[in-house]
Amino acid sequence: MTPEQVTLVKESWEKVKPISEQAAELFYGRLFTLDPSLRALFKGDMSEQGKKLMSTITLAVTSLDRLETILPTVQALGRKHAVEYEVPDSSYATVGEALIWTLGQGLGDDFTEDVKEAWLLTYTTLSGAMLSGKSAAA
Ligand code: HEM
Repeated sequence: MTPEQVTLVKESWEKVKPISEQAAELFYGRLFTLDPSLRALFKGDMSEQGKKLMSTITLAVTSLDRLETILPTVQALGRKHAVEYEVPDSSYATVGEALIWTLGQGLGDDFTEDVKEAWLLTYTTLSGAMLSGKSAAA
């Protein structure tokens, strides 16, 4: 990612953070519309789940220019998704689609092609790190 893309992601996330509760609701609504079978994987309270998701994205966005520092944490989270939550690898693409759609809803005209591209890169990096956690040493 270029420094400009890192800035675009950070600035746009700052605009979503104040509405993160609604954004989380929109996100899960979209996710379960795209793939209703994913609903059954979630056993806990969805508003708590939304908070956890948003704070993990915040951590990743804050650490974008030094992702290697959170890599072990992200890999461990990825391992937990595969082993404990039994999340299929293919669902990362669906989650990515729901996330990008949600950002578009939350940002409106500020969701420019450049912002979108920077987020796609961010999500690809994050999900790649999560998936790599499956085979990384504990
Ligand atoms: C980059 C992508 C993702 C991030 C940042 C993320 C983040 C998180 C976090 C922080 C938790 C809570 C972990 C804990 O309590 O220790 C969680 C749980 C969970 N995630 Fe994800 N996740 C991602 C991708 C996915 C995908 C692709 C799915 C597939 C549907 C998924 C489904 C779940 C489920 C089912 C749980 C457990 C919910 C429960 O306790 O009932 N996540 N995720």
